[in-house]
Amino acid sequence: MDIASRPADSDENTQIADAAPPPQAPPVIRREDYLPPAWLVPEIALDFTLGLTATRVVSKLHVARNPDGNGASTLRLNGDQITPLAVRVDGAAVSDWRLDGADLLIELSGDAHIVEVETQVNPAANSQLMGLYASNGMLCTQCEAEGFRRITFFPDRPDVLSTYSVRMTGDKTTFPILLANGNCTAQGENADGSHWAEWHDPWPKPSYLFALVAGELVSNHSTFTTMSGRKVDLNIWVRPGDEDRTQHAMDSLIASMKWDEETFGREYDLDLFNVVAVSDFNMGAMENKGLNVFNTRYVLADPETATDGDFDAVEGVIGHEYFHNWSGNRITCRDWFQLSLKEGFTVLRDQLFSADMGSEAVKRIEDVRILRAAQFPEDSGPLAHPIRPDSYQEINNFYTATVYNKGAEVIRMMRTMAGPEQFRKGTDLYFDRHDGEAATCEDFVKAIEDGAGLDLKQFRLWYSQAGTPQVSVSLSHEGSTATLKLTQKVPATPGQPDKQPMPIPLRVALFDRDTGAHAGEKLVVLDKPSDTFTFDGFAKPPVLSINRGFSAPVSIDFDREAEDLVFLAANDDDPFARYEAMQNLVVQHLVTAVSGGLSDETRAAGRAAIGKAFTAILTDPALDDLMRGELMILPAEGYLAEQMLIADPGAIHTEREALKAWLGRECADDLTALHDRAVAVPYSRDAAARGARKIKNQALVYIAAGNAQEGARRALDQYRAADNMTDRQGAVLVLASLDVPEREEALADFRSRYEGNALVIDKWFSLQAGSFHPEVLANIRKLAEHPDFTMTNPNRVRALYMAAAVNPKAFHDASGDGYRLIGDLIRRLDPINPQTAARFVPSLGRWRRIEPVRAAMMREELERIAAEPSLSRDVREQVSKSLG
Ligand code: PHE
Ligand code: ZN
Repeated sequence: MDIASRPADSDENTQIADAAPPPQAPPVIRREDYLPPAWLVPEIALDFTLGLTATRVVSKLHVARNPDGNGASTLRLNGDQITPLAVRVDGAAVSDWRLDGADLLIELSGDAHIVEVETQVNPAANSQLMGLYASNGMLCTQCEAEGFRRITFFPDRPDVLSTYSVRMTGDKTTFPILLANGNCTAQGENADGSHWAEWHDPWPKPSYLFALVAGELVSNHSTFTTMSGRKVDLNIWVRPGDEDRTQHAMDSLIASMKWDEETFGREYDLDLFNVVAVSDFNMGAMENKGLNVFNTRYVLADPETATDGDFDAVEGVIGHEYFHNWSGNRITCRDWFQLSLKEGFTVLRDQLFSADMGSEAVKRIEDVRILRAAQFPEDSGPLAHPIRPDSYQEINNFYTATVYNKGAEVIRMMRTMAGPEQFRKGTDLYFDRHDGEAATCEDFVKAIEDGAGLDLKQFRLWYSQAGTPQVSVSLSHEGSTATLKLTQKVPATPGQPDKQPMPIPLRVALFDRDTGAHAGEKLVVLDKPSDTFTFDGFAKPPVLSINRGFSAPVSIDFDREAEDLVFLAANDDDPFARYEAMQNLVVQHLVTAVSGGLSDETRAAGRAAIGKAFTAILTDPALDDLMRGELMILPAEGYLAEQMLIADPGAIHTEREALKAWLGRECADDLTALHDRAVAVPYSRDAAARGARKIKNQALVYIAAGNAQEGARRALDQYRAADNMTDRQGAVLVLASLDVPEREEALADFRSRYEGNALVIDKWFSLQAGSFHPEVLANIRKLAEHPDFTMTNPNRVRALYMAAAVNPKAFHDASGDGYRLIGDLIRRLDPINPQTAARFVPSLGRWRRIEPVRAAMMREELERIAAEPSLSRDVREQVSKSLG
């Protein structure tokens, strides 16, 4: 942890850092201020002399005046904590350059020049993990969004596309493998024990897609033959010893390449595709051209160390980064306000891919669960922004669930309205029209409009308006006609007090109560403040199933009888709607309970209805176990809190736990029978065995809630018998929340069994930090002092503290200690890794929606952070918006 006490800047950089003004009010960057670059850089040659503590960079730019630019003679090259050690123009040293803040300005007289700049960086001191940094003895880069300017001076904006040639020289023993984008064109050895390699990427790209990796790595190699018959070499690079855990990533990569050809007609465009796993990484992974860099957690997987969920995550992220080769790299973003152009579209593509690889129904439910857990709170809080933001202070703060997940939902709505075939015509046109360009969200919408034949005039509001629309529903019945009345309201969000109505595509079906069937699904589009739709042929009032498949990212407000929800939970032929009915049944009950609205009788009646639906789920022979496991999950506490204007997290926790325990007791026989059945299924990766593991762990949760001793006994048995991580983690998850002797045995065994395996030790931290154990907060404070804990590894920080921040029992502890824990973390982490520190702010930023006693304590933490004299731009922006 010594890096914590050392300034984040490397020695040679302190000059600039000192000269920079204190970042009190970072400038606001606005979308409407976009101007094309004055200078373009058609070509760049980079020469690296590699060292862990000092890497020398010589950068040679071929610059050309942009005919569409403002004609300025000054070339502005962005920098960040670097110093120009030498500057040459057309081969001659110049000294009349100047610095403007961190940027390098050079006067140029002609229309085209060769500009050379030398810099030096200290990768080992780079704890922000942006730019060139050292991880686990190797060197790697992270340039999105603005990391390239921490390596060398450059117009570091996504609309400047260049052809890259890279040369690197380094010690053969420290850096036996030398990788960059594109193809390796030459390599050789020097007499002094160093060696070198040259790489060339034929595809022009923005600087954020540049990558370099050097270190001791081994690869799992395979090949893929593309649809036009070109052979591509594939490598998954990892540290020696990890190669046995790379096969699933390789299988996922090959499946992605094939799927993108078949589903979107997209072929890979280089002869080589490299993936490198690094253990220190701020995000999930990065789509650098031909050289994807991954967080180890999205590469390494085998049954002993990875859960079924981890396997799915590897498949999804491998797909995501691969799909960026077209949606992101071949067509990139004009500016960072267009981030959803590549991210929303690529998330949709990875969702469709994962759905095709496994269960479409379960994947859809999981995607909606993530949206509701992460994006809905964002949309209703102080950091709400449209999927295409209008302004930012720090772009790193806009890699959000809104830009990614809501962005995917918005494009999914276009697909729903057009139908998959017409939508494909739209995406074909988009790829065709904009290949090789830096495009905008507007370009995408226009291409879908033209190609798919949709009118998206009003639909564009989804790009500019923030906030989750609320749709109120009522259904009346007269004669043989059912009338559906829909009203929409888009809530006010920061900077957007008044909203216009948006087109909301809703898939609906009306069920006949007696036959349990419907006469066909319809798509209704609500594009006015309020509208009615009529349906004929119903002798009795039908049961409405609405927003089937979650066709629109809205919240539905429909006060209905529990009986109808029980009906849909048992009968709806749309799996998502069936899940939704079960969720609504529980949400209605718990929200009423929390607000003190239940008498003993109504509580009993509510529970009886839930118990009936739950029993049907446990015992329905027609359900597959993966879906059954999904239906068994209770709505999250955060989602319940979202349903209330002002939430009392303590009351929500108590009521939800009480319902869980009641279900555990009430359905004890069905649950133990289910657990016994699942325990007997041997390990395999097929859907049936995965389903068995899913219900095994779900059943265990309820059994333990109903009867701690029985739960502890079964959990310990499951732990001891486990031959895979899904079973093992499921058992520890349950034991970690119980105050029983079995808990210590399992946790101690888990730790010693996986000593040295960083990803599994991460699980050991988060299982404890995420538990509902009575001493959870004290345990977290102790874990922060554990020798395996470090503030410099983002995975470890998240394993402990993100688990705590999303654990309502820990975070919302009535003492306020949970808020203090996260506040302290943000202040300590900010000087080390501001990007990761800023990700913890939104949890405290929810204070306006929390009951007043807790809200005051949350606000106080934010104020304590705001009082820090030298906050990063990242944390400063999030904290001031959260207080504002
Ligand atoms: N572009 C990456 C992705 O979504 C995410 C990322 C952003 C990674 C910034 C690192 C830094 O695939
Ligand atoms: Zn992405």
